[in-house]
Amino acid sequence: MAGDSPFAGSVRGARLRFAVLRSRLFWIKAAVWLLCLAPAALLAWQAFTANLGPDPVARLEHGTGLRALQLLLLTLAMTPLRELSGRPEPIQLRRTLGLFAYFYMCAHFAMYLVFDIQFALPKLGEDLAKRTWITLGFSCWLFLLPLAVTSTNGWQRRLRRAWKSLHRLIYPAALLACMHFVWLVKKDETEPLSYLAILLVLLAARLPWVRLRAWRAAPREARPRMPGPAHRGEAKSRHGEQEPLG
Ligand code: HEM
Repeated sequence: MAGDSPFAGSVRGARLRFAVLRSRLFWIKAAVWLLCLAPAALLAWQAFTANLGPDPVARLEHGTGLRALQLLLLTLAMTPLRELSGRPEPIQLRRTLGLFAYFYMCAHFAMYLVFDIQFALPKLGEDLAKRTWITLGFSCWLFLLPLAVTSTNGWQRRLRRAWKSLHRLIYPAALLACMHFVWLVKKDETEPLSYLAILLVLLAARLPWVRLRAWRAAPREARPRMPGPAHRGEAKSRHGEQEPLG
């Protein structure tokens, strides 16, 4: 309009950009939900139609365990991805991916409780004492339990700095998950060792000098806050999310 001030125009522009961003994020999140739920739906359908192959229990345990590990690593990939791309979306997807990882871990643990030990808790105690790989998997699940519980915005506000420290448990938990896989495989260890290698790369990407290089390489206008000790702790990104967990 002719009478509009330049300020009103820039406010309208900002609102439009915000609306575009929100709608893009909505569709990306919808796709992530679909992709994360698809493997569970497929397993449920195959179980319902008695189509799980010659060893249905192994198929269920392997299917859920592998998906849990993949989603856990994907969650950890979001921070480096944000720093490399300078885009906010990876950080906004991190919580969803982490919760889906935990969902598959719970399903995986439930398969073991139902089919392997038929809810006999003394047997769980025995396995934890005798089988290192069960101890590793269970410790990972236990480490991530408080993270799943406190993943809401309410808990994030209530716990403040402690929330960030608590959520750093994701690093040892991911290591435990990889070791659980490495330990349980008896013959060809290529697959579990590949997951361990991916984890080590993702952890290395968090080293200050690696982050600084990535920050310098990102387009100037898309750079997140300068990484470094001075900004840790109180850091809130431009997009209103705490950083960096996972
Ligand atoms: C909560 C305690 C857990 C128990 C009791 C448990 C138990 C099992 C069992 C019984 C198997 C099958 C082993 C075999 O067939 O020889 C398995 C495999 C596996 N688990 Fe777990 N697990 C636990 C936690 C986890 C967690 C937290 C993760 C990942 C985040 C995980 C990832 C895997 C993977 C990747 C496999 C191998 C899948 C394959 O061979 O394709 N597990 N686990």
